[in-house]
Amino acid sequence: MKIAILGSGGREHAIAEKISKSSKLKKLYCIPGNAGTSHIAENINLEITDFDAIYKFVENYKIDLVIVGPEKPLVDGVVDFLEKKNIKVFGPNKKVAQLEGSKIFTKQICKKFNIPTAKFGIFETASQAVDFLKKTKMPLVVKADGLAAGKGVYICEDIKEAIKAVEEIFNGKFGETKNVLIEEFLKGDEMSFFVICDGKNFQKFQTAQDHKRVFEGDVGKNTGGMGAYAPVSIATSELMAEVSSKIIQPTLRALAEDESPFQGLLYAGLIKTESGLQVIEFNCRFGDPETQVVLPLMQDSLLELIATVAEGGRLQPGVASARPDAAVTTVVASGGYPSSYEKRKEITVPKQLESENCIVFHAGTTRREGQLLTSGGRVLAVTALAPSISEAAKASADAA
Ligand code: AMP
Ligand code: GLY
Repeated sequence: MKIAILGSGGREHAIAEKISKSSKLKKLYCIPGNAGTSHIAENINLEITDFDAIYKFVENYKIDLVIVGPEKPLVDGVVDFLEKKNIKVFGPNKKVAQLEGSKIFTKQICKKFNIPTAKFGIFETASQAVDFLKKTKMPLVVKADGLAAGKGVYICEDIKEAIKAVEEIFNGKFGETKNVLIEEFLKGDEMSFFVICDGKNFQKFQTAQDHKRVFEGDVGKNTGGMGAYAPVSIATSELMAEVSSKIIQPTLRALAEDESPFQGLLYAGLIKTESGLQVIEFNCRFGDPETQVVLPLMQDSLLELIATVAEGGRLQPGVASARPDAAVTTVVASGGYPSSYEKRKEITVPKQLESENCIVFHAGTTRREGQLLTSGGRVLAVTALAPSISEAAKASADAA
């Protein structure tokens, strides 16, 4: 098969790396990819927002299947656009991608189908939201409805912070908005749970947890994720069964009933509280950097599963097999990330770092005239595999 992957992050490098080993693969392209993907695929320098240009490329190069990495093109309807032109694409359509594109859409599904999630309120004006805040105990969580690149969630310890969050959201910090979501603060262990779905059946992947705060010791600003590990110790087989029956199955049923079955990768962000499992969010694509630990552990063919879904086939329900090891990835970021940072700094990645049990995934990198340069906040993700989390964590941190 000739495959094109849309995106340029560590997640896309990890997907490319996994797919590059498939016997089904004839040729791999990354649009636009990064310096890391250029070793295993041909990078094509197109904007992922330019759907027409992507279509022309896919037509001219006779691509069999397009895999969409990031959420933005999914929420903007790239799947609908390409499918209308008879191109096979892996990812949910625009309507279904609202699961990630609108937190309020997700909350309403959870409420209607009894899927456990934090108690919430939706407010149409800042003054309604502030009146509610004045009557409510802190901490709580204020959220912008739409995509906000991981920045639209405010965990508020006091009313001053909460009012500031409401004002920022209504003042358009994350684009024009009609409402704000205010949620109960949940306490517990988090995990990211991935399932690949064909609209009806699904297969589960290994569980993972990412490290959100920028600094060690869980301090500093929230980021897209500074590292991740898999598997998660709280994810016992009982808990996995509970996730399937209480969260994944009802969510898939809810979407199917609404004539919008989920085809693609469903990512459930979960928290295990004293009163049970709750959904924090749904995403409609692989997590970054969780993918950099989940896929290196996976033993089954990812391309086989993806192609089955994109071609309208049926998955065998169950668990994608994984080697019985642990994986930890450490993100190497530009100074200043997640706020402002410099780009175009020359870096080197020593070849001897890489081995069967250590993979350096590129994220914000580019190559210019033979030089390896930084091009983003998260630059590399260094993944180590070992028999235990602590050994993998040490190997990953030493290599990073
Ligand atoms: P999200 O952008 O929805 O992934 O939220 C970012 C992060 O904020 C999550 O990974 C959680 O760590 C935290 N978070 C979101 N909602 C809540 C909540 N209701 N209670 C506690 N933490 C939350
Ligand atoms: N690591 C969080 C995400 O991919 O949304």
